[in-house]
Amino acid sequence: MCTVTCIASINIAVIKYWGKRDEMLILPVNDSISATLDTEHLHAKTTVMTSPTFKEDRIWLNGKEEEIKNPRLQNCLTQIRKRARNSNQWKVHICSENNFPTAAGLASSAAGYACLVVALAKLYQIEDDITSITRSGSGSACRSVMGGFVKWCMGSESNGADSIAKQIVPASHWPEMRILILVVNDAKKKISSSIGMKRTIETSDLMQHRLKHVLPNRVKIIEQAIIEKNFKTFAEHTIKDSNQMHAVCLDAYPPIVYMNDVSHTIINLIHAYNEAVNEVKVAYTFDAGPNATLYLLEESVPEFVGVLDHFFPPGINSEQYRKGLTFREVINSQEL
Ligand code: DP6
Repeated sequence: MCTVTCIASINIAVIKYWGKRDEMLILPVNDSISATLDTEHLHAKTTVMTSPTFKEDRIWLNGKEEEIKNPRLQNCLTQIRKRARNSNQWKVHICSENNFPTAAGLASSAAGYACLVVALAKLYQIEDDITSITRSGSGSACRSVMGGFVKWCMGSESNGADSIAKQIVPASHWPEMRILILVVNDAKKKISSSIGMKRTIETSDLMQHRLKHVLPNRVKIIEQAIIEKNFKTFAEHTIKDSNQMHAVCLDAYPPIVYMNDVSHTIINLIHAYNEAVNEVKVAYTFDAGPNATLYLLEESVPEFVGVLDHFFPPGINSEQYRKGLTFREVINSQEL
């Protein structure tokens, strides 16, 4: 029997991947940029095993056996076996665990597929670039294969050969950067990212504006801001990109709403705070769910956590708290 175990973390996009130009190959309509978190906090841990005694491929997620025939999982397995350097055709058993809520807009599929593909690639001794295999599991997963700030270049080739993830800078480039995740609701989201982005592409007029007139420039500006460690520019574009992703969702027909009242309270609080201190000290971003991810520098953490404690007091059994934040972690972006 051969066994490999890997850990991969979630990544949080500051330029959102929202929309595919090829649903089968999972090719995006725009470049996206994210930071991969350190492996200590929110991660997937996956063990893969092969043995001549295994009769079929099987998978367990968080202790429960799941359907191995899931098309995306099958895509990953087929591609891995095609690229395998060893001629091992034994069946594989996969056990994966997340230490955070699954499918609550916390990019669980990104960490899960990144981890699975890295583990399988080790098991089958694949040494060349695996981002295309990861992408076929879940688009954003290809960014979790690397640490630090990562760009998934949309590419232009129809077979997706140049649609790959590249590290912009390692986490050590900006060691003061902190990520604070505010879990507003850890229930499974109602409209998956895949369905949400498909509907947006098909029905939103605003999406055309985003793709043609906003993103090409924004991607360059934020990449430069990361390289120059210019927090103000980084934060402003992170905020604007999150709001634009949710604006195109609202512009879809029927509209898609991922944020709730608590999400909007957090947004208002952050703008009020930045205005009060007369500086952009905290940026927020929301994926396909109501949970907020905040980017801020280490020096701002104590004061801002104090502000959060004031408005969302931990442990107080008030209606506001019950509807409010249930969990916070300060996470340091690090290399895998
Ligand atoms: C809002 O990678 O989950 O988190 O490719 O359909 O699996 P599929 O989508 P997925 O979408 C992530 C969308 C997002 C933005 C982002 O991470 O860039």
